[in-house]
Amino acid sequence: MNVESQKVKSFISKYSNEKKALLSILQDIQEEYNYLPKEALINVSKILDIPLIDIIGVATFYSSFSLKPRGKYIITVCLGTACHVKGGPKILNEFERKLNITAGSTTEDKQFTLETVACLGCCAIGPVVVADGNYYSQTTIRTVHSILKKYRKK
Ligand code: FES
Repeated sequence: MNVESQKVKSFISKYSNEKKALLSILQDIQEEYNYLPKEALINVSKILDIPLIDIIGVATFYSSFSLKPRGKYIITVCLGTACHVKGGPKILNEFERKLNITAGSTTEDKQFTLETVACLGCCAIGPVVVADGNYYSQTTIRTVHSILKKYRKK
């Protein structure tokens, strides 16, 4: 944890220990770890003299921040009504089975985080999956396998 606190210190000193740079500091930490580790937030709180609860408030306000470890690749399966009717749950089940995790979790190797969403606004082409920012339409079990094959290689 020592290395981590050194890194966090360097992120903060980059902004001259300014409280107003909190958002930028959190962005740097998120970028480094792919989430905001609690230890890092405690260090930020101590160094900037900002209550931890306020930092967590900021971290939970912005969806780009995560307090839970996240994978290198985020896979989002739409379970909105249209995608649900077209087989979204089957797609989700296959991702869960192949990755051996449930929705809302991250694989142990931190390669994948699996999430669900209520609608992505493109219902006509469902069931829709977003993997690493790329949209996949009319997905099937075969699509699940090809997505995993593509991102496992990287
Ligand atoms: S329900 Fe899936 S995109 Fe709208």
